[in-house]
Amino acid sequence: MNRVKAIPTHVAIIMDGNGRWAKQRGKERSEGHFAGVASVRAAVRAAVRNGVKWLTLYAFSTENWGRPIQEVEAIMELFCRTVVGEGDELARQGVRVKIMGEHTHFSPSVIEMIERIENTTVGGDKLTLVLAFNYSSRREIMLAAQQLAKRVAEGEMSAEEITEESISSALMTSEIPDPDFIIRTSGECRLSNFLLWQASYAEFYFPEVLWPDFDETEFDKALEVYAERDRRYGLVTEES
Ligand code: IPE
Ligand code: IPE
Ligand code: MG
Repeated sequence: MNRVKAIPTHVAIIMDGNGRWAKQRGKERSEGHFAGVASVRAAVRAAVRNGVKWLTLYAFSTENWGRPIQEVEAIMELFCRTVVGEGDELARQGVRVKIMGEHTHFSPSVIEMIERIENTTVGGDKLTLVLAFNYSSRREIMLAAQQLAKRVAEGEMSAEEITEESISSALMTSEIPDPDFIIRTSGECRLSNFLLWQASYAEFYFPEVLWPDFDETEFDKALEVYAERDRRYGLVTEES
């Protein structure tokens, strides 16, 4: 019997290996980040083509502020340039953009750029592209706990009303389904503070390829890997 190939609703990617890619070529680390933008475009195109509805890309972790200042500045500049420059093309492709992360470190001009791309692309109904920028999953969970504790203290809800659902709704991902498939490029096998709560039943894939070399063919290959997985959620299925 021919089975329909399973396509994940939500693919999340930890875009890793830009620095190593640059180093291998005798270039500055920031050159690797620049090169990585082409892979972002490729991943978006491949996601739309395959009918993936949500694509989350981990672009900058809260811990990444600790990198050398020149690198942080290069990433910030690149982020702003990309956010300003790609809005119209993404809107044309039917892509809605959401920027997820704490906005506290950002200047008013960066916040304005974020609002602009979110507004330009608000009508996109093919794919939602979530850019995790200044994101840390532990802080996200901590902020959710604080928010729920306040509501209990103010008598708006009882402690028993803190459920898996109410915690999920207090996270930055409240509007986003849990990821089905998490890809981390560059062969590293860790989450690095990404979607810890949301990843509980995600499938994982750790290809060796460095992020600037991750093209549409690599994305398609990853979806082939996903289609072979048997997701059991703790139950027993035909295959098991
Ligand atoms: C991922 O590439 C991009 C960011 C973390 C911003 P890296 O910069 O971590 O590249 P490697 O891991 O050092 O090769
Ligand atoms: C994770 O990569 C963060 C992003 C890809 C944005 P890192 O390169 O910062 O993670 P570690 O330091 O290898 O765990
Ligand atoms: Mg890295």
